[in-house]
Amino acid sequence: MQLDPDIQAFYERGAEAERLSGGLATGPLELARTQELIQRHLPGSDLRILDVGGGPGVYARWLGALGHDVVLVDPVVLHVEQARETGVRAELGDARRLDQPDGSVDAVLLLGPLYHLLDADDRAEALREAHRVLRPGGLLFAAAISRYAALLDLLVRLDALGAAVFEIVAEGISTGVFRGGREVFTNAYFHLPSELAREVVDAGFGDVEVFNVEGPGFLAPDIAERWADPARRQILLSSARLVEREPELLGAASHLLAVARVPDTRD
Ligand SMILES: C[S@@+](CC[C@H](N)C(=O)[O-])C[C@H]1O[C@@H](n2cnc3c(N)ncnc32)[C@H](O)[C@@H]1O
Repeated sequence: MQLDPDIQAFYERGAEAERLSGGLATGPLELARTQELIQRHLPGSDLRILDVGGGPGVYARWLGALGHDVVLVDPVVLHVEQARETGVRAELGDARRLDQPDGSVDAVLLLGPLYHLLDADDRAEALREAHRVLRPGGLLFAAAISRYAALLDLLVRLDALGAAVFEIVAEGISTGVFRGGREVFTNAYFHLPSELAREVVDAGFGDVEVFNVEGPGFLAPDIAERWADPARRQILLSSARLVEREPELLGAASHLLAVARVPDTRD
């Protein structure tokens, strides 16, 4: 399966390994909140977890340290190498065609593939593959980037919405397809919250909930300083929790996280 050369080149620069630890100022908030939402839903310990699009392995390492049996799959060679260097079991692969057998895992993380598969058929294939490898009752955690995230981030937080970038953002808002190439993030698909929920349901999942991961705090221009201060960090986290399932605010999210379950017909 072919990975878009722009996406490949973007990740081969190697910045992804540091993104969540502060390489991107909003990364630590994204990491803390994604971990919180995953941990809240995972049913106990000793689970078999497949981290699809797991990048350099930040989540796989964390889940492994919690005692889970984790395998990471990613199409970028550098990411697989970086994950392996830190002790993660990692293999090259694509979300649209997984090597794992049917019903073989308790949870699938899909934190990346849905926003790098620009075509709806490809996203449907990735979700169907996640469904196939999950056992009945197994859990899906699927991340998306919200349709308006780039506009809000570039205009409000970063003050970096020049005329050339505006055209890319405007196309992203009307079609969902963000053609950032190799310079402005990279090529991506930005979901409407309802669209993410529908894609997950269409792949056969039930009990679908969509969460606002970072909440409004991602728009704070001084987020790195706030995060460094324990009291102000708590306000960022509490603000995110306060509106995490507020449907009227989901469109103003940065990342969305769909949590869903493979129906268990034995129930
Ligand atoms: C922004 S990174 C996220 C990494 C990690 N999951 C996280 O949340 O921090 C997106 C990841 O999706 C991967 N990816 C892109 N297209 C993919 C595909 N078709 N199948 C699996 N992974 C893919 C990229 O290689 C990259 O590692």
